[in-house]
Amino acid sequence: MSLTPIGEPRRKITTATIRERKFEHTPITCLTAYDYATARLVDEAGIDIALVGDSLAMTMLGYENTLSITVDEMLHHVKAVRRGVKDALLIADMPYGSYHGESSDAIHNATRFVKEGGAEAVKMEGGEKRVDVIRRVIDAEIPVAGHIGLTPQSVNVMGGYKVQGKSLNAIEQLMRDAVALDRAGVACIYLEGIPREVGAMITAEVETPTIGIGAGPDCDGQVLVFHDLVNLTFGPPAKFVRRYGDVAALITQSVLAFKADIISRHFPNDAESYHLPKETQAALDTILRRKHAIQR
Ligand code: KIV
Repeated sequence: MSLTPIGEPRRKITTATIRERKFEHTPITCLTAYDYATARLVDEAGIDIALVGDSLAMTMLGYENTLSITVDEMLHHVKAVRRGVKDALLIADMPYGSYHGESSDAIHNATRFVKEGGAEAVKMEGGEKRVDVIRRVIDAEIPVAGHIGLTPQSVNVMGGYKVQGKSLNAIEQLMRDAVALDRAGVACIYLEGIPREVGAMITAEVETPTIGIGAGPDCDGQVLVFHDLVNLTFGPPAKFVRRYGDVAALITQSVLAFKADIISRHFPNDAESYHLPKETQAALDTILRRKHAIQR
């Protein structure tokens, strides 16, 4: 059995494990991962869920929001993460437009994430109004993660990235959304950008594990965007982000030191250079000596 860097045993996480965690009251850990290297580090650290979030549109590809990323672009990253993840449950985000029309299209796209990308579940934003399509995808044997509250794919409808569920009507709608997803049999529900009190109410109401991001500490698990965790996002972090490292500073420091070493001719040094085998060097020396002798 392999161990995490702090010596905990690692085991394969499935949708069933996630469900057990809620009943055992063991917090579920989740991070986004977008490429092979970070997926490996996240997996080897023993994080339960590696989520290939469509937030990669912004964090990795520099798009303004998540709306323009395509299924093919997402798949490129899901495949890379698949190659890096062994034990974590791999969830892939369905991008905007890939499940908003005919449910046959949604099933076709979700199937691509499983067959081509190796995802073990897909995530779709929306509650009551998406529940029919979510049910169809689950019927096609693909576990679905729900996502309600501040759903970034609805940015234009919400009029910005605003905390949701602040009025009584909004709370009522969120509860209906959560219950609809629970009844549909989703694997987990991501709760984003809602008051702590509402996160706690939903978590207590549904049997499905909830995973919060800006939804307070009472959810069954927590997720952060990897780039937020390590300070690789440019600009001020959201209120709910806790930075655990400063990778941006580390990268800048390393790049500046590299540049300075090239300019001062300290990189590479002799130990960092390849050398000719002794016999080749000796033969070359002989040839060069003869050439010099002829030229004189
Ligand atoms: O796209 C994403 O990274 C997400 C998480 C923040 C839940 O949806």
